[in-house]
Amino acid sequence: MSSEDFSRRVAEAADLVTVALDELLPRADGPESRLTEAMRYAALGPGKRLRPFFALETGRMFELPERSVLRAACALECVHAYSLVHDDLPCMDDDDLRRGRLTVHKAYDEATAVLAGDALLTVAFEIMAHPDTHEDGSVRAELVRRLAVSSGAQGMCGGQMIDLLGVRGDLGAVARMQRMKTGALIACAFELPLTMAGAKDAERQALMAFGRDIGLAYQIVDDVLDAEGDTASLGKAAGGKDAARGKANYVTLLGVDAAKERIAHLVTQTKAHLDPFGERGRFLRAAVDFVLDRRS
Ligand code: IPE
Ligand code: IPE
Ligand code: MG
Ligand code: MG
Ligand code: MG
Repeated sequence: MSSEDFSRRVAEAADLVTVALDELLPRADGPESRLTEAMRYAALGPGKRLRPFFALETGRMFELPERSVLRAACALECVHAYSLVHDDLPCMDDDDLRRGRLTVHKAYDEATAVLAGDALLTVAFEIMAHPDTHEDGSVRAELVRRLAVSSGAQGMCGGQMIDLLGVRGDLGAVARMQRMKTGALIACAFELPLTMAGAKDAERQALMAFGRDIGLAYQIVDDVLDAEGDTASLGKAAGGKDAARGKANYVTLLGVDAAKERIAHLVTQTKAHLDPFGERGRFLRAAVDFVLDRRS
């Protein structure tokens, strides 16, 4: 598959998700419209929609109805959007730019950004728990549980806590932090359709391992881009801000070259998880290079 064909497929998925999110996110007429506008500003901005893309591709591998997977993918993207709103707050990374625009607390104010994050998190569960996501209530409960585990103290929030404290320990501790803060939500993009499909254990384990490794590699690429990328193409601050803030990651601890070696190693390891899927895994296999060669 050519990289143009692949880029088109990613762009199509991103459009589908943005249109669906626009329909799913609340609007309001009263004074609370400030909150719904801030939520929409955060979620409808030009994100890459990587997590929904993975969910939709996995849904296709298992021939799931797209409408259901799209709802679960939107729920996951709402959690991701919330995580970015809070990550950018002055009490966390204190960033002014996100997706090429002012961060939510700069475009609105801090209290609105906290509430917009809260409400994006809760609307995610509202979307997931709706009967349109899956006809079987026990499957919906399991989808909700898995999204919650990936988002909370054992996943994204826990990883953010370690990131803010600064990792103490060896590279294993850095990898654990990265897997939690970023890998958990990326792995969830595979876990949700796998749950809908009632996939066999071996398939579930292989795709979850794929999701966890691509999630870790994705965060190391993000750290390399923080050091080497430029703000214009990234749409967020770069120029070594992680190092300036004393963040511990592969790049700040080992340097860019060692981080790139780690990414190369993870690319091979990640692709190997797809071996059992043969031809069915071709889009995800292509996604590894596409996603990790990113410049933005
Ligand atoms: C940014 O995520 C934060 C990380 C976990 C590295 P993305 O790179 O997926 O950001 P958007 O959604 O495209 O803005
Ligand atoms: C963010 O990591 C991860 C989240 C869970 C939101 P970063 O703090 O490195 O993400 P960016 O660089 O601000 O997008
Ligand atoms: Mg951060
Ligand atoms: Mg940040
Ligand atoms: Mg970063």
